[in-house]
Amino acid sequence: MSESQAGVLGPPALKERTTILCIDEGGDVVVRIRDTGCGMPAETLKKLFEPFFTTKPVGKGTGLGLHVAYKIVEAHGGRIDVRSEPGAGTEFAVFLPVRGPRTGGIP
Ligand SMILES: Nc1ncnc2c1ncn2[C@@H]1O[C@H](COP(=O)(O)OP(=O)(O)OP(=O)(O)O)[C@@H](O)[C@H]1O
Ligand SMILES: [Mg+2]
Repeated sequence: MSESQAGVLGPPALKERTTILCIDEGGDVVVRIRDTGCGMPAETLKKLFEPFFTTKPVGKGTGLGLHVAYKIVEAHGGRIDVRSEPGAGTEFAVFLPVRGPRTGGIP
């Protein structure tokens, strides 16, 4: 395993490309989606949830996937954390409160 593969994300899970875990962490259900793909540089991470931000070629990506996911999770009173390392992989952690949002709700 290279040094970068064993970096902030820890070692990749065996040969699986994606790992999904659901754990109740103190009132939150947590879904962690980890991949051993290309990872992202800091410039991409800064814009990740902006609508229409994409690094895909014209006509391939809308740049709406993560924006829509963020808005849905936010409406449920949750949050998404991202850790990524270029060349090693990415982990998205979706936290959702078991009891739902404290106020408001899905618009
Ligand atoms: N798991 C990932 N690994 C590396 N880069 C990612 C990952 N997920 C998202 N990205 C980066 O974030 C950008 C925005 O993602 P998002 O899902 O919002 O749009 P998209 O995938 O480009 O387009 P669409 O979802 O419409 O196909 C991607 O273009 C890519 O650069
Ligand atoms: Mg997408």
